Amino acid sequence: MTLTGKRILLGITGGIAAYKAAELVRLLVKAGADVRVAMTEAATRFITPVTLQALSGQNVWTDLWDARIADNMGHIELSRDRELILVAPASADFLAKLAHGLADDLLSTLCLARRCPLMVAPAMNVEMWENVATARNAETLRADGVVISGPASGGQACGEMGMGRMTEPADILADVEFFFQPKRLQGKRVVVTAGPTEEPVDPVRVLTNTSSGKMGYAVARAAQEAGAEVTLISGPVSLPTPAGVARVDVRTAREMFDAVKRTQSRPTFSSRWLRLPITASSIRPARKSRRRTAAVFRSNSKRTRTSSPGWRRCRKGRSASASPRKARSWASTQRKSARARTFR
Ligand SMILES: Cc1cc2nc3c(=O)[nH]c(=O)nc-3n(C[C@H](O)[C@H](O)[C@H](O)COP(=O)(O)O)c2cc1C
Repeated sequence: MTLTGKRILLGITGGIAAYKAAELVRLLVKAGADVRVAMTEAATRFITPVTLQALSGQNVWTDLWDARIADNMGHIELSRDRELILVAPASADFLAKLAHGLADDLLSTLCLARRCPLMVAPAMNVEMWENVATARNAETLRADGVVISGPASGGQACGEMGMGRMTEPADILADVEFFFQPKRLQGKRVVVTAGPTEEPVDPVRVLTNTSSGKMGYAVARAAQEAGAEVTLISGPVSLPTPAGVARVDVRTAREMFDAVKRTQSRPTFSSRWLRLPITASSIRPARKSRRRTAAVFRSNSKRTRTSSPGWRRCRKGRSASASPRKARSWASTQRKSARARTFR
């Protein structure tokens, strides 16, 4: 679990996206965090404290004058043992309060009296987000060292389109994980190749491998969380790009090779490169057939897997490219016999 034992105070303010806070609490708890929830009065209109109490397994705090805390010092005590205050969603109103140091309810007072870092995930209508006052407040918060997660662009609950949607809970979780990760690779650039590559044989067939890309994507994500600037060169997979990672899509091994070369030729200044080749097709046809050879390749598929020098080498754990000449001559023999038997 990535957040084991991390003590987080989750603040929820009054916006439509408050319903997503339930999923966020679930994800944070699943990642091992100790989540304490505080809500503004407006937030309780969108989602009930009972839901969040059930998901976090703790009391939910809403009232500045709550007498359950000794000395009535809830507005200070509730954040003292926390390692992070995360406000998600953060309304336009709440960003304004934070930027100006207002403290007229429990959550804003907790934020003002905090000793730990603060992260906010804004969520509002596009016009509210683009209003010059909100832009100014967000800038002030950035300058004050507040971490801002999102917002994202897209369709909004009000029916309009544009910036202002709250970042999805999984992405906020990734930002929180990134926040807690020691930045051991700060200033380094990392290139990761991941996923399968496809070598076209004819207009409808490809030679490929069964790489899922999961390991490469996990490596890219871990490197990004450790502070590196990460480029992920990926074959065709349907995995989501890890947050903060630059992804380059490729199809063939040649395209992957070229992309790696291109990325490496960028000026490196003082940073270093660490290349982690994950996988690529082991063989590719020297020349593509213009005819469709489906039936032949189907009938040869068993032989392809068991008797080719390339496949044998792969199964022994060595790269087929260790003997490209043998692999090429085998591929050429296969092509010749395929051509001879192609349906015309
Ligand atoms: C139906 C409805 C939806 C709202 N959605 C948002 C929203 O998504 N973002 C936002 O900043 N304000 C939204 N508001 C306005 C806030 O609820 C209002 O500014 C409130 O004072 C915020 O209080 P708080 O910052 O103390 O939680 C909405 C209001 C209503 C009635």
